[in-house]
Amino acid sequence: MSARSDAGHADAATGARAAAGAFAAQPVCASAELAERGRARLWDVLLWRRPARAFVLRFDARVVAYVNRCAHVPAEMDWQPGEFLDLERRFILCSLHGASYEPAGGRCVGGPCAGGRLISLRVEERDGLVYWYPSPDIVPMPPKQVDAPPPDGVPAPPP
Ligand code: FES
Repeated sequence: MSARSDAGHADAATGARAAAGAFAAQPVCASAELAERGRARLWDVLLWRRPARAFVLRFDARVVAYVNRCAHVPAEMDWQPGEFLDLERRFILCSLHGASYEPAGGRCVGGPCAGGRLISLRVEERDGLVYWYPSPDIVPMPPKQVDAPPPDGVPAPPP
């Protein structure tokens, strides 16, 4: 194998490792934070490179996660932060116009989202933690940049 060919394999291997890292499991919260049919845990993601919120909740002992984005109008659905379920705790209910979704799969079952479904995220529980897996469409929000301190003698801007 030539040196050029080896370099190509090395680049491909580096790229594959980077891609694998980009889609590695991301911790969300402790399993104990998600009560059965209780309040969801929210976090920030990039959906198609734009900021969005995702949520995870426990339903029938499984954790399920979706982008907080109704299929009717692309708006957030919770009526209080993390509160997605209806009064009977059977369906995910959009607080805007009442679309309802089955929690297990995100399929629309009533209201103005007919034929639609929520955008799901792959999640799993392991060792007492809940993790989500990025995808080509949904990736972690990059960490916020911390501003560098001003150079000596330059006053800091007001907060
Ligand atoms: S935005 Fe959700 S039902 Fe209209």
